[in-house]
Amino acid sequence: MKVSIVGGGGLVGSCAAFALQAGRIVREIALVDVNRDLCEGQALDLLHGSSLTADQKITANGTEAVIDSDVIVITAGSRRKPDESRLDLINRNVDLFRKILADIKSHGMKQDAIVFVVSNPVDVLTYLAVKELPLPSHQVIGLGTVLDTTRLRSMLALQLDVPPTQVQATILGEHGDSMVPIWSAAQIGGLPLDKFPGVNQSVISEVEKKTRGSGAEVIGKKGGAGFAVGVSIADVIHSIALDQRRIMPVSSLQNGAYGLRDVTVSVPTVMGRAGVLDRIEIDLWPKERMALQNSGNVVRNTIDKVVG
Ligand code: 2OP
Repeated sequence: MKVSIVGGGGLVGSCAAFALQAGRIVREIALVDVNRDLCEGQALDLLHGSSLTADQKITANGTEAVIDSDVIVITAGSRRKPDESRLDLINRNVDLFRKILADIKSHGMKQDAIVFVVSNPVDVLTYLAVKELPLPSHQVIGLGTVLDTTRLRSMLALQLDVPPTQVQATILGEHGDSMVPIWSAAQIGGLPLDKFPGVNQSVISEVEKKTRGSGAEVIGKKGGAGFAVGVSIADVIHSIALDQRRIMPVSSLQNGAYGLRDVTVSVPTVMGRAGVLDRIEIDLWPKERMALQNSGNVVRNTIDKVVG
């Protein structure tokens, strides 16, 4: 499988490339970036480690790399400032994103290509990609709350001193301030969270607060996320590459789950080589369902301002 990463010279794109290299599953990683030197430097740095990782083709390219790509990841765009919300980014990134979409479109894509938006505000830009690219909507996804979900699981594991890979919890809705942690379905090692030793409301509230502030915290300390967003991107791509049909909270154009329509937010989604295969609509607490619908409205309102 060939994956091209538009914005591959930057922090997010290069961390995604390294996660794909370490994952050893995809066959080809094609970095694309307007900063050609940076792009070539990232590809070279990755190549230097290839004899210890995997037999992959790793290259630096212009946008022509998307023509025969199975997955086209778009990470290019400005990063938000520590005190800036993701939606504030919209004005700075929409124009750039539209140019990127037009450039990809002008080169052409495989009929079964999956376009995977990471640039922020990811839900709104995913909607733009659905509307402006000649692909069925099930082949256009956004990273959505996949990153928030891994942050929640990791922070909860740290707090309770349990293995992070055994924490099952998910965040749905907007990758942003209105995101919705689904505590009603959370488990550790297959055991219900609310009965797990050491868990009480203050632990839950503290972990939720930490998770919500994670993006801004990392931006404030190191300028922007890289490693966690890179492994999040790779995890989704591996489910596509191997047609694993794993359930992940990617952002996609909703058509009725939880009453959400014509808006791109994250719900439990079955991801395979063909993209979005299905959505799983489990019962939520009433307050979770309401918060999810509110999240959909927040994203919809911004889409209306930007897309019209
Ligand atoms: C974050 O939350 C980059 O939006 C991403 O760090």
